[in-house]
Amino acid sequence: MTLGAASVARGDGALLGTVEPAIELVDVVAGYYVDQPVLQGLNLRCQKGVVTALLGPNGAGKSTALRVIAGLLPPISGRVMLFGNDVSGLTAHALAHRGVSFLPQGRSTFGDMTVEDNLELGAWVLPRRRRRVAINEIFERYPNLRTHRRTLVARLSGGQQRLLEISRALISNPKVVVVDEPSVGLSPILADRSYEELRLLKEEGRTVVLVDQNVRSALALADYVYSLRAGRTEREGRREEMSGDLSELVREWLGIAGGGQIR
Ligand SMILES: Nc1ncnc2c1ncn2[C@@H]1O[C@H](COP(=O)(O)OP(=O)(O)OP(=O)(O)O)[C@@H](O)[C@H]1O
Ligand SMILES: [Mg+2]
Repeated sequence: MTLGAASVARGDGALLGTVEPAIELVDVVAGYYVDQPVLQGLNLRCQKGVVTALLGPNGAGKSTALRVIAGLLPPISGRVMLFGNDVSGLTAHALAHRGVSFLPQGRSTFGDMTVEDNLELGAWVLPRRRRRVAINEIFERYPNLRTHRRTLVARLSGGQQRLLEISRALISNPKVVVVDEPSVGLSPILADRSYEELRLLKEEGRTVVLVDQNVRSALALADYVYSLRAGRTEREGRREEMSGDLSELVREWLGIAGGGQIR
């Protein structure tokens, strides 16, 4: 067990299941209408320092699960645990203070504000005296953003905007990064860059919960995979165990989508 703890501290997913999870969803029921829940008793365990991917067909509830984890949608019932503490019903604001950062799908920066102002918004969660240091650390990591610090975000290239989105999610030095569809709408080069950044997060020992339509990319990055359907876990396992099953499942998902049964 001592060896296990040391390995996991390095972000090694080989001993999945032997350590305390960073995020745990226990029988979570959640949705947008009380009488029509999207998540219907979802159970997830996202281990510390590893990448967990949630896959599944359109409408399965993947983004909804991420919103619950990030505190944007309170569960109707069930529990959300963060590092062993019950955080069910805490707001996104409170969870950000506890180290959870959400990178939503699509544009999440403000186009009519400068790069630096956007980073300051991302740094609100830090004590005032830490904010400047944190912004400078981001500029060290992405010199290109420093060059454009006074530029309005709308004038940045797509790639620069993506870097800004990622860096805004990182500025608070989160322990858990929740990412919805990191490559959607991006050119292949920008998508690769986006995955490269996610890989780096894992190397830094952060916990990543990832939703991705691109199953191949998700599998290249994830240590552990859940396949969701209709708000429940259909299958789960380590990436190596799931790869074969998933190609079957993806065909099935696509078949279903083609059959028009998915909203
Ligand atoms: N803001 C909302 N208000 C009402 N219903 C919603 C809202 N967002 C999602 N839904 C519904 O909840 C269900 C699950 O949606 P969700 O976005 O979680 O699916 P998903 O697995 O992320 O799908 P996709 O792969 O298309 O992104 C869908 O039926 C969807 O129509
Ligand atoms: Mg979604």
